[in-house]
Amino acid sequence: MIAERKDAHVRFATEQHRQRNVYNQFDDVSFVHHALSGIDRSDVSLATRFGGIEWQVPLYINAMTGGSPKTGVINRDLAIAARETGVSIATGSMSPYFADESVADTFSVMRKENPDGFILANVNANATVEKARRAVDLLQADALQIHVNVVQETVMPEGDRSFASWGPRIEEIAAGVDVPLIVKEVGFGLSRETLLQLQKMGVRVADVSGSGGTNFARIENDRRDQPDYSYLNGWGQSTPACLLDAQGVDLPVLASGGVRHPLDVVRALALGASAAGASGLFLKTVLDGGVPALVSLLSSWIDQVKALMTALGARTPAGLTRCDVLVHGDLRAFCTDRGIETRWLATRSQSDSTNSYSTDHETIGGTR
Ligand code: FNR
Repeated sequence: MIAERKDAHVRFATEQHRQRNVYNQFDDVSFVHHALSGIDRSDVSLATRFGGIEWQVPLYINAMTGGSPKTGVINRDLAIAARETGVSIATGSMSPYFADESVADTFSVMRKENPDGFILANVNANATVEKARRAVDLLQADALQIHVNVVQETVMPEGDRSFASWGPRIEEIAAGVDVPLIVKEVGFGLSRETLLQLQKMGVRVADVSGSGGTNFARIENDRRDQPDYSYLNGWGQSTPACLLDAQGVDLPVLASGGVRHPLDVVRALALGASAAGASGLFLKTVLDGGVPALVSLLSSWIDQVKALMTALGARTPAGLTRCDVLVHGDLRAFCTDRGIETRWLATRSQSDSTNSYSTDHETIGGTR
């Protein structure tokens, strides 16, 4: 049953990513062009630091799969591509392993193929501390992700209906595991209020994983006999909306959900993310063209992120938070309603540090 679900998620998610570069709210973010960038490519470092974690590139393959023979092969190929390009990588939810230890190798293959890489284990918000530790141990994981996915569970025919324990469980795991803990959504976004709650629970990093890319309301509707919940297909906040909502919250954030190309990566970093990740697009790439296609895509993204940072005069990913950006359209309307000030973003390269604050994820602009 679980293995079938995992295979269906892969099938339906890949279908969603057959259309390329469809509009999403990242298109409502643009940079003010300044013709003198003032730096050379050799001045740019892609290294990023956040929540006690350090990555050489601000890019990661986000959580997807494992638990069936087919998804074990996918995890193997994703891990090889991560190893070849130096990007970090997460497993999918390790619930199938807790239910049946015989599928362990569909997850541990990631560590086997990528012995020195940065690997994140992934569990659901019902997991006990003991399960979280088992997940980390199996992969010798460098960090742990907990996914919070109320809307997906709601639409999923066999999904959870009880969510009261999630907060206390997250708090226990934050105190009970030795590796950094990242709490993530699965494509519906994390609000400012949720980020503040997570911060109080001792979570070190949040991955906003907003809407605009893989849509799990649609996937679970596709799995139902009747798409009873199809009216939820537009639920949630986009990734750039979440990043703007997070301005001024003293918790490092990662950006995933609808990241389509290197410009979206750079936009996310400019809005304060410490790194940007993608899932569905990388999955489609590896299924269509195998490991070489994904290695080629990731390598070109790394190359082009560096090129764009050079053009924008940003020496580091955090340096992008001093670039002038404009917020348009629906994204601007979201900001207005949420009381998020955006005008200062358009002129921040000229301002002193009064609109910024410092954390261990370096300097991030932001006041409301
Ligand atoms: C996912 N995602 C996911 N997330 C998670 O925390 N645990 C999981 O097991 C899964 N499973 C999963 C399967 C498949 C096939 C996909 C495509 C995605 C969600 C994923 O990590 C991410 O949050 C969303 O997919 C949004 O990013 P993209 O796909 O728009 O780049």
